[in-house]
Amino acid sequence: MTLWGGRFGSEPDRVLWEYTVTDDDRRLLPDDIRGSMAHVSMLGDVGLVPLDDVGRLIEGLVTILAEAEDSSFVFLDTDEDVHSAVERRLIEVVGDVGRTLHTGRSRNDQVALDVRLYMRRMATERQRQLTEFAHTLTGLAEQHAETIVPSYTHLQQAQAVPLGHHLLAYAWMALRDRSRFEDLAGRLGVSPLGAGAGGGSSLPIEPGNTARALGFDVVFANSMDAVGSRDLVAEHIWCATQAMVHLSRLSEELVLWSSSEFGWVRFGDDFTTGSSALPQKKNPDIAELARGRTAGAIGALTSILTLQKGLPLTYNRDLQEDKSYLFAADDLLGGTLAALTAMLGSAEFDPPPASPWVTALDLAEALVERGVPFREAHHAVGRLVALLVADERALDTATSADLAAADPRFEESDLGRIDVQDSVRRRVSQGGGSVESVHRQTEALRRLL
Ligand code: ARG
Repeated sequence: MTLWGGRFGSEPDRVLWEYTVTDDDRRLLPDDIRGSMAHVSMLGDVGLVPLDDVGRLIEGLVTILAEAEDSSFVFLDTDEDVHSAVERRLIEVVGDVGRTLHTGRSRNDQVALDVRLYMRRMATERQRQLTEFAHTLTGLAEQHAETIVPSYTHLQQAQAVPLGHHLLAYAWMALRDRSRFEDLAGRLGVSPLGAGAGGGSSLPIEPGNTARALGFDVVFANSMDAVGSRDLVAEHIWCATQAMVHLSRLSEELVLWSSSEFGWVRFGDDFTTGSSALPQKKNPDIAELARGRTAGAIGALTSILTLQKGLPLTYNRDLQEDKSYLFAADDLLGGTLAALTAMLGSAEFDPPPASPWVTALDLAEALVERGVPFREAHHAVGRLVALLVADERALDTATSADLAAADPRFEESDLGRIDVQDSVRRRVSQGGGSVESVHRQTEALRRLL
């Protein structure tokens, strides 16, 4: 029996049922029950349901919540969705009084509420995980404040930086990812319960009462907006997807760095996989899958945006699909943060010495310190580079004669600038890649985290 069978002459066809009913929303079960508890209490407070009945309804809902929590709640094939399942079960547990549960409410405001409660829980959990992830990066960065690597632009070696500086770039991204969830949590503080089917109710319900009971800051101002909008679901997916995109970039680097070509990092045997054919292989599958699965999060984001674009107000059954996108993107972030944080915990970084070429800018800056305009200094070093490359020599084989041949304004002491340690030691600009900067950043991050 459906919730809405009254005006129908026949039971729903199996085809309709199979096409329209999904079990995606079952994980909203605890949120649905908690929302119903607040709703029932409010019905009692405003006198729509006698207080004795409210007591029995609450007791029944407590029983059902316990079933949800110990996974003994049984969904039936005849339950159209999680809301129908709870109402059906409540009537089984408390009898006919259960039929008053849905007074002054619609599944339209109910599902909006459930999803909001779910997102509130998950936004908190993702913030916790992002904090842990950023702490892991910060710890690694501290260990490698003095490990010098080349930074890259265009995937060409650029300047010498501490490896810690590179890792901390991802910690700052994680901090912003966390703050996006914080901002979202603020906007999630509006309760949609009480909007009913979309136009409100003729009954004296008190949305402020349920909002308070459920820990919301305020109540919706417009019932049509409350049941018809899904921008907050899209925002949650965007928060998750942008965080995944950051994790995907890190994953790409971890894959590169663990190759024999880079040789920067080794992961524990327990965090890598082997090849069925090639005995020498040790594959960074977690990072590869994190990178690959980000495609699914981006798919979820484009899906939720597309889902909304042509819908007239208010609720349309299309909106049932929002949950599959939300769960896909949010689960992915949760699982990826857990796996990557653990994998990073097993990482042993031991990059080879950076090539002296990454000091070319330092050499130019030596001339600038002596009053040579930067463009001329750049060209002088460029001439030196061309001269050495023509001889298939590296920058650190340059002699004072080479310097003089490139530009008479060079001095012999400038040869000392062709040193990656020196390059990092002289880095003074704010937020630049120096050892002190890494320490300053880890301190700042620890405060902020
Ligand atoms: N299962 C529906 C969903 O997930 C709940 C709301 C259904 N409302 C309705 N009028 N059919 O969106």
